[in-house]
Amino acid sequence: MKNAWAAVLALVPTGLAVAQTESAAPQYGEEYRPQYHFSPPQQWMNDPNGLVYFQGTYHLFYQYHPYGNTWGPMHWGHAISKDMVYWENLPIALFPDINGAIFSGSAVVDWKNTSGFGVDATPPLVAVFTYHDHLAQNLGRVDFQTQGIAYSLDGGRSWAKYGGNPVLQNPGNRDFRDPKVFWYARQAKWIMTLAVSDHVSFYSSKDLKTWTHESDFGREWGAHGGVWECPDLIEMQIDGKDARKFVLLVSTNPGGPNGGSATQYFLGDFDGVRFSLDPDLQRKLKAAPAERPDLGAALWLDYGTDDYAGSTWSDVRAEDGRVLFIGWMNNWEYASKVPTQRWRGAMTIPRELKLVRTARGLELHSTPAAELQTLRTKDWPIRRRRIRQETDLTGSAGTKSGLFEVQLSLKLGSAQIAALSLRNANRAATVFRINRPAGRYELDRSASGAVKFSPPFARLQTAPLVGTGNNISLRVFVDRSSVEVFVNGGETVFTAIVFPETPYDSVVLSADREVELQSGAIDGLRSIWNETTLSQRGH
Ligand code: FRU
Repeated sequence: MKNAWAAVLALVPTGLAVAQTESAAPQYGEEYRPQYHFSPPQQWMNDPNGLVYFQGTYHLFYQYHPYGNTWGPMHWGHAISKDMVYWENLPIALFPDINGAIFSGSAVVDWKNTSGFGVDATPPLVAVFTYHDHLAQNLGRVDFQTQGIAYSLDGGRSWAKYGGNPVLQNPGNRDFRDPKVFWYARQAKWIMTLAVSDHVSFYSSKDLKTWTHESDFGREWGAHGGVWECPDLIEMQIDGKDARKFVLLVSTNPGGPNGGSATQYFLGDFDGVRFSLDPDLQRKLKAAPAERPDLGAALWLDYGTDDYAGSTWSDVRAEDGRVLFIGWMNNWEYASKVPTQRWRGAMTIPRELKLVRTARGLELHSTPAAELQTLRTKDWPIRRRRIRQETDLTGSAGTKSGLFEVQLSLKLGSAQIAALSLRNANRAATVFRINRPAGRYELDRSASGAVKFSPPFARLQTAPLVGTGNNISLRVFVDRSSVEVFVNGGETVFTAIVFPETPYDSVVLSADREVELQSGAIDGLRSIWNETTLSQRGH
C-alpha cells in the first residue's frame, strides 16, 4: 500500500496542495467525529509528530495525507494549542521534496542555536524527521529512508528545509526511521533515538546536522511481534521526586497485547552512549509468558488497541515538570477501514506519564492531563450505595451529547465480576469488566456499534488484573467515537475507538454479587469544535 503513491507524488506541485488545505472551514459535525479529541479537518492522519512546547504554545504536527482518507505520501500537518485541549489547525508544515515524503519525527527548541539556524535572539525550532523516498523504494533499493531536518524562525509558523539534507544516510536497512531528539545536558549534545527494524539506535550530534552512531538496544529484549517504530527516550523522576530513570517507549506493529499495533516501554539508565536495562526489569522480561511466547515479555503503556506511535512533548517548562504524551488513537490492523468518510484518524486525549514505584517494581502510568478539566460542563455526583442488580447511574446526568467523563470508586468485596457499560438508545454498548476469576480486566466492544468493517475489531481486549481487584477506581472518557479507561490512577489503561450509531448516553454498573460504590461522578464535557467555544477563543 505504501508504494503505490510514488508516481503520483512526483507529479504533485506543492502550491496546489497549499491551496487545497487552507480552504477548509471545519465544521466537525459529521457522524462519529470526535468532539474533544484532535482530528484533522479532512483526510487521513496517523502519528503525532514534532511535539514541542514553545512560548506558551503546544505544537502538534501529524502524519498527514492531504489528498485522501487512506494513507498516502506523508506530509506534516500542524495544529497548535495553549492547553493541549483546544486545537487550532494550521496549514501543512512540511511537504514531500526531492528526498522523499515526510515520515514521523520530532522537534526541539535549539536554545543555544547549536545548529546556527538562528538569526537573532529567538531560538530556532528544529524538526528532525524521516525522508521516505518512494521512488527509490520502487526501484528496489533498501536505503530509501534517511533523516532530514527543517527549521523555523517564527515559532513554528513557517519552516525551511536544511540545504544539506539528508543529515543521516541509510546504512542499508529498510526500516530506519522516526527520530526522536533530546538535549543531553550532561555532555552538551543532542541524542537521537531511531527505530531500526528490531531495535533502536542512538546517535549523537553537537549541531543537529552531523550525527554519530553511539549504540543499539533491544534486539534481544521486549516484544518483537512486528517492526519497531516511533521510539522516545525520556528522563523521568520517580514518584515526582529527585531520583531519576530513563524510560524508552517503543511502538511495535504488529505484536500488541491485543493484536495489531501497540506501545511497549523499557526502564533503565542512559549515559550519553548506551541505554542499559534495569536489572529488575531484565529478570522480569526473561520470564517469557508461557501463553503468548510470540509476544516476548513486555511492559505495555496501554492495553487498549488504539494508542499507537505516541510520544512526549519536548521543552515543556521546567516549572511545569510534567511528561506530557499524546498518541494516535487507531491501530494499523484496521485504520484504513474505520467507518469515517471526510477524515480518518484522531489523537488520544493528552496524558501525563508518571513513573511510579509499586510493589511490583517501577511502572509507567498514564493519567489524563489536568487541563481536560476545563471541558467539564456540569458535575453530577453519584450517590454512595451498595449495588447488586444492574444499576443505571446516569440519573439526570447530561450524557445526551455522548461527551462525558465517569469517575467511580468501587469495593468489590465478594463480587467476582463487575462491569461498567456505556450504552446508547439502540442498546449498543462498550463494556469494561473486572473479571477476578480470569485474573484480568476486559474491554468488550463486540456490540459497541459498527464493528463489521474489520473482523479483528470485535475481539475482546484484556489486561492482567493487578492485585486482588478488591479496590478499583476508574476514570472513563467517552467521546463520539472513543472510550478511554484509566484504572487505579493510570496503572492500567485501555484506549479503544468505537462507532456507536447514536452516542452512548447511559452508564450502567452491574456485578454478580453486591459491590460497594464508594464515590463517583459523571461530568458532561463540551465540544472543542462548537462555534461558541471557537469564537470565544478568537479562532
Ligand atoms: C508508525 C509509522 C512510522 C512511520 C509513519 C509513516 O505508525 O509507520 O514508523 O514513520 O507511520 O506514516
